[in-house]
Amino acid sequence: MAEKLTIPKIKKRKGQGALVVVTCYDATFARLLEQAGVDLVLVGDSLGNVIQGHANTIPVTMDEMVYHCRCVARGLSATHLVGDLPFMSYQASEEQAILNAGRLMKEGCVESVKLEGGRRHAALVGRLTEIGVPVMGHIGLTPQSFHGFGGYKLQGKTLAAEKALKEDARLLQEAGAYSIVLEGLPGDLAGELTESLSIPTIGIGAGPHCDGQVLVLYDLLGLDERFNPRFLKKYLNLSQEVLGAVAAFGAEVRQGTFPGPEHYLHSARKSDE
Ligand code: KIV
Repeated sequence: MAEKLTIPKIKKRKGQGALVVVTCYDATFARLLEQAGVDLVLVGDSLGNVIQGHANTIPVTMDEMVYHCRCVARGLSATHLVGDLPFMSYQASEEQAILNAGRLMKEGCVESVKLEGGRRHAALVGRLTEIGVPVMGHIGLTPQSFHGFGGYKLQGKTLAAEKALKEDARLLQEAGAYSIVLEGLPGDLAGELTESLSIPTIGIGAGPHCDGQVLVLYDLLGLDERFNPRFLKKYLNLSQEVLGAVAAFGAEVRQGTFPGPEHYLHSARKSDE
């Protein structure tokens, strides 16, 4: 079993080999991800898309995050578990943000939380870090800003946007974030951000020059044949496998070939006495 990555160890991984991060939403996949040797498991609010079937992550609630974090935690014994703070669980007030982050740790059993946004949440990141809640930042294409961005669009395309993102990253690091997700950014900008920081960056749709990469598990497994963004590599075509397996089950049930003799027992009973 791989060595448990604590927060200090994650920080030390900067420049020491790529961090492998995969999202997860249940105990069965959590167990498999741990066996596969991923470094960090993230219960992303992407569960709004891939589990709940929403068009974006906005509807995901704290109760739902806590539930899925608990499920995933039961499938892990040694892998670092991060949980997303969902939309509006940390924006309204510092007190509410602290209480919700505490819930994710106490009830959801996560070891750190992730929240979206740069400078506007730097003070909160500082406060959470100070009271013992390690924070992973997330800047660039932050899905909770879906409506503000007008959809899932590449960020950091102008010089002003680049400058703002550099400042965001610096402020998050200064506030105590232990790593930062860089999503939907030009690869050269993600590389510059990575070089400018002493904490690891985790990229998604941000090119190869990050300290690690994250993908949504259902995306890398190819579970949705309709979802084919440029940044995604599907390591399996699992939607076709699932279709084939379930269709084969259905055919055998209809033909009466399942269950076969090897799948059940006959009673030894010979009479009613
Ligand atoms: O919600 C999520 O799964 C994420 C990752 C894709 C970084 O935020």
